[in-house]
Amino acid sequence: MNDVVINAIQQKIMTTESLTFTSLRQIAGRDMNAQASLNRGRAIIDCPTLLNQYLYSYGLMVQRQWSYVVPNIVEMLSDNNDQDMHLYDYGCGQGLATLLLIENTSGLQEDISQITLIEPSEIALTRAKLPHLNIQTFTKELDDIEENHLSINTDKMNIHIFSNILDIEGFDQFELFNKILAKGGTHYFIAVSNDRNCYGGTSRLESIFDALMGLEPEENEIFNVTHAQFERFSDEKNMNHVYFCLKIEIH
Ligand SMILES: C[S@@+](CC[C@H](N)C(=O)[O-])C[C@H]1O[C@@H](n2cnc3c(N)ncnc32)[C@H](O)[C@@H]1O
Repeated sequence: MNDVVINAIQQKIMTTESLTFTSLRQIAGRDMNAQASLNRGRAIIDCPTLLNQYLYSYGLMVQRQWSYVVPNIVEMLSDNNDQDMHLYDYGCGQGLATLLLIENTSGLQEDISQITLIEPSEIALTRAKLPHLNIQTFTKELDDIEENHLSINTDKMNIHIFSNILDIEGFDQFELFNKILAKGGTHYFIAVSNDRNCYGGTSRLESIFDALMGLEPEENEIFNVTHAQFERFSDEKNMNHVYFCLKIEIH
């Protein structure tokens, strides 16, 4: 399909290295008069027109969310002592959260040795993977992700980001977290979404956060939950959001 970002790279107007949130939005954030087709941002996008519309309609909101979240998680992420990190982005869309997290967290890019992107829209995923090396992608819904797809390495730090996805009904968030934690290891969880009480909404983030906080160690297990925060916030456009972060170590 005719994606303006892929065309720009093929025509050498931009390179994958120069692809940042800002350059992406400059080149592809266009009002295509199709916002209604995005189903409040939740549609599984099947054409480049809607990718561009998402970037135009929701890109700056996602940027404001991550501008708030990043300063709150810097301390948590900085306790990794420069160990290798594996970043997972669930329901990544065209990859805005991964871009914003990496661009705004100094030193993070150097520590990330592997990225896994999961997203049912093939066209969104194709755009999302462009700026990254050492990347693994799954064109799948989250209920179809198996434990072995995740390839959790218990010797690495695993960062799991959920940007505007945990609030969406239609997948079992408890099952997904069970698969992530099945082998143990060190995990940083970071989630952000609009704060609302309809169409799924904040209660889905609350219920998984409460479940993680309530986890009990099994016999002979070393188990730690630290850096836990659950917060509602408003951005400079007075839009209401909710985020949580926490670090879980199970060995
Ligand atoms: C609101 S967008 C968020 C995209 C991106 N994470 C962001 O913050 O810009 C929701 C994304 O979830 C994807 N999605 C919807 N249902 C899904 C499911 N059951 N499993 C995985 N992804 C899903 C959509 O295709 C879409 O890309």
